[in-house]
Amino acid sequence: MTIPAQGPARGPDGPHPDQDPGHRPAEGSGTADGGPATAPPAPDQAAPDPASAAPAPARPAGKPGAVLPDLADPAFWQAPPEHRLAAFARLRALDTPVYVAEGRGRGHWALVRHADVQEASRLPKVFASAPGVTTPEPARWVRALFGDSMVNLDGPDHARLRKVVQRAFTPRLLAEAERDIDAVAARIVDDMLAERPDEFVAAVSSRLPLEVICNMMGIPEEFRPEIADRVNHASENIGVERGLAARLRMPGRGLRALARMQRMVAGIGRERRRNPADDLISALVCANVDGQALGARQLGAFFSLLMVAGVETTRNAITHGLALLTDHPDQRDLLVSDFDGYADGAVDEMIRHSTPIIQFRRTVAAEHSLGGRTFRPGEKVVLYYASANRDEAVFGPDPDAFDITRSPNPHLGFGGGGPHYCLGAHLARQEMKALFRELLTRPRDLRATGLPDLAGSNFDNRVRSLKFTFTD
Ligand code: HEM
Repeated sequence: MTIPAQGPARGPDGPHPDQDPGHRPAEGSGTADGGPATAPPAPDQAAPDPASAAPAPARPAGKPGAVLPDLADPAFWQAPPEHRLAAFARLRALDTPVYVAEGRGRGHWALVRHADVQEASRLPKVFASAPGVTTPEPARWVRALFGDSMVNLDGPDHARLRKVVQRAFTPRLLAEAERDIDAVAARIVDDMLAERPDEFVAAVSSRLPLEVICNMMGIPEEFRPEIADRVNHASENIGVERGLAARLRMPGRGLRALARMQRMVAGIGRERRRNPADDLISALVCANVDGQALGARQLGAFFSLLMVAGVETTRNAITHGLALLTDHPDQRDLLVSDFDGYADGAVDEMIRHSTPIIQFRRTVAAEHSLGGRTFRPGEKVVLYYASANRDEAVFGPDPDAFDITRSPNPHLGFGGGGPHYCLGAHLARQEMKALFRELLTRPRDLRATGLPDLAGSNFDNRVRSLKFTFTD
């Protein structure tokens, strides 16, 4: 299929990317008679046997004649955002989740409604995180390397690990981190004013989350440039790639970058176990009162998780935030008129609207009916947070509007609740508030001058770069 081009560059007063009407919808390979892009098993049919051919065709209920998108088609993820949103709205209108074939007998059921994503998140005994939450299935060597990353664990194994790493997020440490966040945010804006960069991601949004986590962990300065480089390298290869070689892929090259970073951090951990300091790595590797501590490999896995889950996500949320404020000057004016009064709402609305993590997967562990379908053990479901966050049933009548006064705002940007709910949600909100406070009160007229250069990933709503300007 034709991959629609990215939207036009935003001029100083250019249009919002989501509102540009000049694109043909990314229809995927859906059938014109309303059938799904890939034929699913009938609602009560057993899970597709990976060894057999594609599951038997069945026609989901829904609007007759609607063309359904193919979520496994990389072109779908590279199409302009408004086309994806329209496609998800069509999927939400169906009576049952659609089946998305990923090839070679693999596939998943797409959970796209707010209520379904929330329910699946809160039933970990039914919708398990093991063997992995990324799509497609991680390769065996990836599981061997990242198998003990907490996102991929369930039950007591997960609870034990989460309890140990929760030491990073105690009120005392978070209060210390908050003071640090304010100082780092101020320094980034000092540098911005002095150096006058024109690209926001490298100069501003990527710096804060990386520096905050490295400070919390006690990563020595000399390691940081290399870590920044490896994080970029790793995330660049997660999800869908653009261009001729576009295909769904596991982040092979990226994971190797993470693996090197893991070894580096594991080395620091071994050193801190011998010579403990007053930092988080020392706290994590030295046993607490319960005798619990992270091994060197677990420490490396946790650090990699923080880099992907905590740095990338926050950097993307901040970058989308600037684009959103630029495109909605009324909301920006409102925020500036009373920053402390509106900041909490603005940050959550930025996260809802941009949904930095698009989806995570679960594997069905026990039979369960949800969203009009009975799921069987072994089947895969994918929780599409990006769709849940635009569900008209919760955010109507205009779920696509950017409204910093939206209240309540029960978005699922940090997950749908349950045991894996984002550990860093508070920290991320603090970072975003601190940086936008500096950005909106010190320079004048800070705004994006181009459209976000989106990576076209099916995993995270990643922005490679965003041109911007400001006056002193
Ligand atoms: C805007 C920024 C962020 C977004 C949108 C985000 C989103 C998410 C999502 C969707 C999950 C999965 C929840 C689930 O499966 O139910 C998650 C998990 C997680 N996040 Fe975040 N996150 C952000 C920032 C952070 C930060 C700053 C940190 C740490 C410094 C962090 C650490 C984690 C960890 C450790 C997990 C795994 C928790 C577990 O498996 O028990 N996140 N995050």
